[in-house]
Amino acid sequence: MAIERENWTLAVLHDPSAVSEAASDFVSTTVLSKPDAAITFPTGSTPLGMFDVLAARAGRGEIDFSGVEIFCLDEYVGVTAEDPNSLSRWLWNGLLSRIGIRPHQFHPLPVTADGDELEAAAAGYDQMIPRGGLDLAVLGLGPNGHIGYNEPGSSAESRTRVIALTPESRTQASAYWEGAIPIPELAMTMGVGTLLEAKQIVLLVTGFAKAEILRRTVEEPMSADVPASWLRLAGPRLTIVADEAAASRLSIVHSGFQGRVADRGGDTHDGRS
Ligand code: PGA
Repeated sequence: MAIERENWTLAVLHDPSAVSEAASDFVSTTVLSKPDAAITFPTGSTPLGMFDVLAARAGRGEIDFSGVEIFCLDEYVGVTAEDPNSLSRWLWNGLLSRIGIRPHQFHPLPVTADGDELEAAAAGYDQMIPRGGLDLAVLGLGPNGHIGYNEPGSSAESRTRVIALTPESRTQASAYWEGAIPIPELAMTMGVGTLLEAKQIVLLVTGFAKAEILRRTVEEPMSADVPASWLRLAGPRLTIVADEAAASRLSIVHSGFQGRVADRGGDTHDGRS
């Protein structure tokens, strides 16, 4: 599909804090319009500012998360939700415990199933996601183009499954990994196809270090080499929210658009360049 035929939205905002505010607006709007929304959030460092904004808004009573369902995007195989290295724990401590989520609203991935039952457990998790898809998928962009742990090679049709982590992703995890247990070689991740069913997808990208992978995500032909590029298949359901540093290598950025987050301190562009 030629890029000029695509109609997703790219919002280029001044800095990471503007990205966090804009991302939080998507969450607020979703929960206000659907109090029992099914949502997935990314882990990693990119969403930490959004977590703070959402915690503050919830603290002021501006968003009521008491009816939402939170589905886990990805997790290390064999790492329990209590383990400090687990992505569930990261999300729980960073966001969910701060916005009043109760345990029954949170659905960790079944990564502690027996080895020969892991794939069936992953498929069962995929089925638990409401028919018609998540209401909102907020995602981060991995340095190698992964979304969740859909590593390079992931197809657009892939479902929730077990996947081998690339050396690059294991190195990325080593930046915060604690304790003696080695970083697992396997993870479970929601699939690209699973995520593409979401009614709204918001990809957050900040910093110069992501500029080249964001360029490949949006300006090269969609391909399994950069799994995030498949998100463009979502068309108008996709908004990429980037700061100026992350967008600095994009040739499609041009002035003159419009869009919901255009008043957040930066120009907003659509994908129809
Ligand atoms: P980061 O991770 O936010 O720490 O860069 C992003 C990701 O791998 O999804």
